[in-house]
Amino acid sequence: MSSLHWFPNIVFVVVVFFSSSLASPSHGSSQVLLEGEEATVVGYGYVVRSVAVDSNQKLLTATLDLIKPSSVYAPDVKSLSLHVSLETSERLRIRITDSSQQRWEIPKSVIPRAGNHSPRRFLTEEVNGGNSPENSFLTDPSSDLVFTLHNTTPFGFSVTRRSSGDVLFDTSPDQSDPNTYFIFKDQFLQLSSALPANRSNLYGLGEHTKRSFRLIPGDTMTLWNADVGSENPDVNLYGSHPFYMDVRGSNGHDEVGTTHGVLLLNSNGMDVKYEGHRITYNVIGGIIDLYVFAGPSPELVMNQYTELIGRPAPMPYRSFGFHQCRYGYKNVSQLESVVDGYAKAGIPLEVMWTDIDYMDNHKDFTLDPVNFPEDKMKLFVDTLHKSGQKYVLILDPGIGVDSSDGTFNRGMEADVFIKRDGEPYLGKVWPGKVYFPDFLNPAAATFWSNEIKIFLDILPLDGLWIDMNELSNFITSPPSPGSSLDDPPYKINNFGNQAPINNNTVPATSIHYGNVSEYNAHNLYGLLEAKATHQALVDVTGKRPFVLSRSTFVSSGKYTAHWTGDNAAKWEDLAYSIPGILNFGLFGIPMVGADICGFSHDTTEELCRRWIQLGAFYPFARDHSNLNTVRQELYLWDSVASSARKVLGLRMRLLPHLYTLMYEAHVSGVPIARPLFFSFPRDTNTYGIDSQFLIGKSIMVSPALEQGKVTVDAYFPAGNWFDLFNYSFAVGGDSGKHVRLDTPADHVNVHVREGSIVAMQGEAMTTRDARKTPYQLLVVASRHENISGELFLDDGENLQMGGGGGNRDWTLVKFRCYVTGKSVVLRSEVVNPEYASRMKWSIEKVKFVGFENVANVKTYEVRTGERLRSPRISLIKTVMDDDDPR
Ligand code: GLC
Repeated sequence: MSSLHWFPNIVFVVVVFFSSSLASPSHGSSQVLLEGEEATVVGYGYVVRSVAVDSNQKLLTATLDLIKPSSVYAPDVKSLSLHVSLETSERLRIRITDSSQQRWEIPKSVIPRAGNHSPRRFLTEEVNGGNSPENSFLTDPSSDLVFTLHNTTPFGFSVTRRSSGDVLFDTSPDQSDPNTYFIFKDQFLQLSSALPANRSNLYGLGEHTKRSFRLIPGDTMTLWNADVGSENPDVNLYGSHPFYMDVRGSNGHDEVGTTHGVLLLNSNGMDVKYEGHRITYNVIGGIIDLYVFAGPSPELVMNQYTELIGRPAPMPYRSFGFHQCRYGYKNVSQLESVVDGYAKAGIPLEVMWTDIDYMDNHKDFTLDPVNFPEDKMKLFVDTLHKSGQKYVLILDPGIGVDSSDGTFNRGMEADVFIKRDGEPYLGKVWPGKVYFPDFLNPAAATFWSNEIKIFLDILPLDGLWIDMNELSNFITSPPSPGSSLDDPPYKINNFGNQAPINNNTVPATSIHYGNVSEYNAHNLYGLLEAKATHQALVDVTGKRPFVLSRSTFVSSGKYTAHWTGDNAAKWEDLAYSIPGILNFGLFGIPMVGADICGFSHDTTEELCRRWIQLGAFYPFARDHSNLNTVRQELYLWDSVASSARKVLGLRMRLLPHLYTLMYEAHVSGVPIARPLFFSFPRDTNTYGIDSQFLIGKSIMVSPALEQGKVTVDAYFPAGNWFDLFNYSFAVGGDSGKHVRLDTPADHVNVHVREGSIVAMQGEAMTTRDARKTPYQLLVVASRHENISGELFLDDGENLQMGGGGGNRDWTLVKFRCYVTGKSVVLRSEVVNPEYASRMKWSIEKVKFVGFENVANVKTYEVRTGERLRSPRISLIKTVMDDDDPR
C-alpha cells in the first residue's frame, strides 16, 4: 500500500475588522403622537433638495426635505441625509438618517464594518425638489450595481443590475397605496420596494419557524428577539436577521438563478411584510442602513454578506461529533448511565451535556452540592476526557440576586447590570430574582470572563451553552407611565398578536452602558453575550471555543453555533427543522441544528428514528429534550439504536468532509448545509424545495418526514447520483427528475453527485478515535464535469482555522481527477507543505465510483512551483470493486 503525501502552496489570510468606539447613542427626541388619525396619502414624503456625486462614482450624498407629513405615528423628521456608497464593487450601502441629530445605530464596536469612501471630488447639484426631470446616478463601471436617485415627488431610489437592467430594489411609491411610501419618524420608519412577483424568490428574514423555506406572499416576519418556543410557526423567535437572498428567474437578459442579497442593518424591532410584488419594512427606530450584495450566485452573496458582517467562527473538530443533552438529568450517576448506555449500544457519543439541573438553585457558576457535587463532577469530566469525550454546560444570563453568592457580589461591585430608574433591573428567571449583565458594558465582559475562568478552573469544560438570552424574563414589568419606548406608537406583531414589546423581557426603558436604551439594544443581547463568552473561552483555554447560543443577531456566526430552540416532538417540527437550518446558513451561522427527537412533548420510537436519520446530517447534531418528557437517548429503542449506528457511522466517516466544509464556511461564508439551489441555481425546480438539502456542493439528504411512510418523493437535479451508503447508481440524466425512493424504517436516502471527490475516514465512537483511522477518498466519475474535491486538515482546535494570524499549522489538499484513454488520473495539490509533511497524513484507499472501462489508475502528487514540472508519481491502493463499501 502506498500513500499520497502532501505539500503546500497558499496561505489564506482571514481579515477581521476590529471595532472603533461605541457610537454615542441617542434615542432621539420624544414625539407627540397623533393617534387614531387615518393616513392621508397624496403627496406625502420627501423630495431631493441637493445632491452630490463623487467624481469616481462611488459616493452619492443628498439632502431630502419633507414635503408633506404623514399623519400616523407622530411627526416626521423634517430633513434627512442620504448617503450612498459603493463600498466594494459588489456591495452598495444606502444610509438615510436625520440630518439634524444623531440617532441610534448599531455601534461599530458591536458589529465592526468598513467605513465610507473618502470622496475624490464632489459634483454638487441643487435640485429643485421633484421638478427637475433629472435623476442622479451612482454608476461605477467596475460594479454591476447601479444606484438611481429618482428626483420625483416624493423621491424614491432604485438599485439595478448593470449587466441585465434587472431592478433589484425600487422604493418608488405606488401612489395609490400609503403602505408603500417612504416614512421617517422617530419611532416609525417605512421602506418599501417593488419586486418582480413572478421572478423573485426570497429566502431569509428570521428567526421564525417556517413551513416553507421560500417566503410566501402574505408572510409578515416580525423581528424582535423573544423566548417563544420554536414549535410556533411564523412568530418572532429568539434571533433577528433582517437579511434576505433573492434568487431570480430570468428576465430575458439575466441567467436564471441570478442572485443578490439585501440587509437592513438595524437592531430595532420591525415587521417585514412580503407580498410577492413588494417587500415593506416597518421599523420602530434607528436608521435606514441598507446593503445590497451583487452576487450574482448564492455562494457569492454569502461571501459578500459575511465579508461585511464577519465570517463564521471556526468550530472545533469535536463539535462535529454527536451530542446528548436533556433537561432533567437528576444527578451525576444518571449522566454516567447515559454515557454508558451509548457505549454499550455502540453508538458514537462525543459530547455529554447538562442543563440547568447541575446548578445550585439554578444559579450560574454553582454546582448542586447534593446531586452534582464538585468531586463527582470532576471525576465525571475526567473520565469523559480519558475516553475522548467532552462535556458542555449551560449558562443563563440572569445572575441570581443573592448576597451570599460570590458571582452576584462581584457583579454588583463591578456595577455591570442593566439598570432601570437608576437601579439594576430586577427580573425573574430560573433562580428566581435576577439581574442581567449588560454586555454593552466592557466591564461586564471582564466580569463574565472572570466567572468563567473561576468555573473552568474547577471543571475543565469543552464548551458553553448560553440560553435565555433574548432576554427571557418570566415577568413583564409595568411600562413607565407615558413612555413611548415601553409603549411605542406602532405595534410590531410581537408574539403574533401585537403583544407589548416588553412582554416577558427586560423593559424597553431599561438602560445599558453609554445610556443606550433597551428599546434600541434589545436585539443585540444574545450577540453581545456570545461575543463575551467566546472571548472568555479564548482567554481561559487559548483554544478554539465552542459556544452555542439561542439568541442571535447579524454577525453572531463570528462567535457561536445555534440550535433552533424549543421545538416539539412532532412530525411537523421534524420537517420545519430543514428550513430552520437552511435559514441559519444564510444568516452566516453555519453550525446549526435542531433538537433531535424533539424537545417538548413525548417523542415516539418512529419519530426519534426518523429524526436521527435526518439529524445525523445537521451540521450540529444534538439530542435534547424537556423536563418531564419521556427519555429519548438513542439507545433506548432497538430500531432507533440500529439506525443511529448506521447514520452516525456515516457521519463519522464524513467528518473530514464536514470539517472541510467548516473551513470553506469560515473563509467564504458558504453554509455547510445548503439549499439545493446553491448548487443548481439554474434549475428553478429547486427553488421551492425544503424537504431535502445538500451537505456542501454535492451530497444530498432526502429524509423521511412523515409518519408511517416508507417512500419519499425526492427531486434529483441533473447529473448522476449515487447512493452514499452502498455506492450504487441511483438516478441520472441530463435534466432533473422527481423520483419516489424507498425509505424503509432503517434507511435515509443520502446521495452523492457525479464529479465529487469526498474525503472520508473510518468509523469510531469519538472524533478523536475517528481521526486516527486512515483517510479514504471517494471519487465519483463524471463525463462532462470536472471531478474535484478538497480536504482541510489541522489539529481541530487551533484558534485559527487556516492562515489567519500567520498560522502555518494547517493544510488544504485539492484533488482533481480525470480520465485519459483507459486511465484514471488522480492529482492532489497541497497548500502549506511543512505542516503536511510534519503530520505525515496519508490516503490509504481510494474508491472510484461510476468509472467505466478503466484499466488502470495513476495518481500524481503535485508539489507546487517548479516541481510541478516533474511530479513524483506514487501509486495508491485503489478499490475498484470493493465488496465492503466502507
Ligand atoms: C430553555 C431552552 C432549553 C432548556 C431549558 C432549560 O427552554 O431552550 O433548551 O432545556 O430552557 O434550561
